[in-house]
Amino acid sequence: MSRFPWPVPFGWFAVAWSSHVSQAAVVPYRAFGRDLVLWRDERGDAHLQDAHCPHLGAHLGHGGTVSDTEIVCPFHGWQFDTNGRNTCIPYSERTNGKARLRTYPVLERNGLVMAWYHPSDEPPMWDIPIVDEFGVDNDEWAAPVSRYFSIDTAWQEMAENGVDAAHFRYVHGTAEVPVLERYEPNGFTSHMRSKQFFVTPRGNVEGRIDSDAWGPGFSVVRFGGIVDTVLLGCATPIEADRCEMRFTFTVRRFADDRATTAVGEAAINEISRQLLQDKPIWENKVFVERPALADTDGPFMQFRHWAAQFYADVPSQ
Ligand code: FES
Ligand SMILES: [Fe+2]
Repeated sequence: MSRFPWPVPFGWFAVAWSSHVSQAAVVPYRAFGRDLVLWRDERGDAHLQDAHCPHLGAHLGHGGTVSDTEIVCPFHGWQFDTNGRNTCIPYSERTNGKARLRTYPVLERNGLVMAWYHPSDEPPMWDIPIVDEFGVDNDEWAAPVSRYFSIDTAWQEMAENGVDAAHFRYVHGTAEVPVLERYEPNGFTSHMRSKQFFVTPRGNVEGRIDSDAWGPGFSVVRFGGIVDTVLLGCATPIEADRCEMRFTFTVRRFADDRATTAVGEAAINEISRQLLQDKPIWENKVFVERPALADTDGPFMQFRHWAAQFYADVPSQ
């Protein structure tokens, strides 16, 4: 029996870091319970499409090539454009109007290739913001550092962590339970403001964790107190019960470059360590629909109400 009841949610999801997909590259990818092909055309735009060629089923990610702005199947050379339409059958005068590759809307922002997934192919319902701290010409903030994790759980279980103030003390060993000042779900976005005490060699230091989410796949978390850190937290459902997590960090620069690197690394390692502390809980827990909560527990039900909107009322295709 599954440990939780949800299908893959819809939304914008990170499918790669931009720098990992080079010009004219074609790579196999799996997400949303589907076999996919991720590629970049010769003009520089990234694309995500279903992997299997509608002709006779070859996987375009294994041996497919790019010709200008089209992808070429390795099996019989059929070509498809960026909308998934068949544009050329090299051994025929005609094309096949019925041969179509399902194509996912893609945008590149904040150093990430993001794709929109909806089980019944509804168009995007919101946008992904540009996060200033990750701007290439923003020299107040250090060059981004990234970390990748694969976790055997559903997106919602990981996201629920944000409102679970008490676990910080018991799973992550923080000095105090953080104080959740505000939790505001608002349409497809949600906003959390919290005060937190960090344990340091100099004693407990008061800090902040403020996070903003745009749907299930993209959140911006700002840590303040010890060192200003911004984290882009991107969860991508690979299957209904498995996620990839892409973390991209930046820290506010100190005057001294070496200090920036050292302090930045310490902050990043700490946040990554926390994720690895959560992992065994997430990978073994079950979803409790009617939890027995303490009066001082966080706003779980508000979070769950917000999360519920991302499951479409159609069976996953
Ligand atoms: S299977 Fe793709 S061209 Fe034949
Ligand atoms: Fe956690």
